Amino acid sequence: MAKPKVISVANQKGGVGKSTSVYNLGAGLAMDGKKVLMLDVDPQADLTKMLGQRKPHDLPLTLANAMSDVVAGTMPRDHPEIMHHHEGFDFVPGNRSLSAVEVSLVNVMSRETVLRQYVDSVKRDYDYVLLDCRPSLGMLVINALSASDYVLIPVQADYLAAEDMTELVGTVRSIQRQINPRLKIGGVFLTMANETNFRKDIVATVKSNFGKHLPVMDAVIPATVRLAEVSTADKSIFQHEPRGRAAEAYRSLTKEVLKIGEKQRSRTSDLSCLKFITHKIMMSIISDMLIRLRQRPAFTRKRSPNGCIAVTCFGTPGLFNLPKPSTTTSMSQMRSA
Ligand SMILES: Nc1ncnc2c1ncn2[C@@H]1O[C@H](COP(=O)(O)OP(=O)(O)O)[C@@H](O)[C@H]1O
Ligand SMILES: [Mg+2]
Repeated sequence: MAKPKVISVANQKGGVGKSTSVYNLGAGLAMDGKKVLMLDVDPQADLTKMLGQRKPHDLPLTLANAMSDVVAGTMPRDHPEIMHHHEGFDFVPGNRSLSAVEVSLVNVMSRETVLRQYVDSVKRDYDYVLLDCRPSLGMLVINALSASDYVLIPVQADYLAAEDMTELVGTVRSIQRQINPRLKIGGVFLTMANETNFRKDIVATVKSNFGKHLPVMDAVIPATVRLAEVSTADKSIFQHEPRGRAAEAYRSLTKEVLKIGEKQRSRTSDLSCLKFITHKIMMSIISDMLIRLRQRPAFTRKRSPNGCIAVTCFGTPGLFNLPKPSTTTSMSQMRSA
């Protein structure tokens, strides 16, 4: 199994489509055959409700318990908090206890990496771990970003608040610098685009405004009541209206997410392939030298017909071709004289 990718969906603004996107993106990845785990890192528990758990605050085991276990050093080996969804992926529900956990983290050592420790303990069974963030830049979001390889930023098409984006990107950059250097911005994508801003080719506008600083994804999620219905239908858009525009948009987003990190991965595999070949060549040279050493004397001397002494080094002839010393006769002559 390839290395799992951990992806946060974050924007400190509420109501931009984070939870809806985590659900539909996760379902899209699962339909593509990927093993997916979603974590609800929002005390409002909207994702948990969308996934059919209508009373998240009554759930006995949630992400809040798991994070508390990490803090207490009592994380169980099996993970009873992980639930299975009928669309073929797993999820860990959240509820309001996460707020209490967030407050308690203030006094905890390594408080920014509690969620990362949890994610590290479960991610090996998955291809993708998707984290649905709460609308803030508080400790839970910092924990989510610290645990992630990538962050996706949904932005409401007609809002596009440059100030909010700057603040979020600033937080991402400082987490990259101080806590998690592997965190990258996977992309910004537009949600809730209505007919007007769809027609205006809004992606081109956004790309020209933000494209220099941030990767802007091509997928644009339309504003449609079908997606609003998903929050209570207990079905992703792929089951709710598989042939509609919204399903098409989330299919495109899924394809783009599947490509995230591909360039880096192929570069890494090129590099490791090169290292492997170099290693193989070195090993064959060394073993060849050892065989020659064992089988043949290091140096042999042979007198050639032209009177030269050919010296063979480790069986390789002609390394040294020494001319017959002209002084040999005169020396013996001197001795006999
Ligand atoms: N593309 C969309 N078109 C119409 N309604 C949407 C769309 N995406 C989300 N919604 C609805 O908007 C509300 C906020 O979406 P949500 O995904 O919960 O946002 P966030 O997680 O950012 O707070 C929900 O009621 C949801 O059903
Ligand atoms: Mg939400």
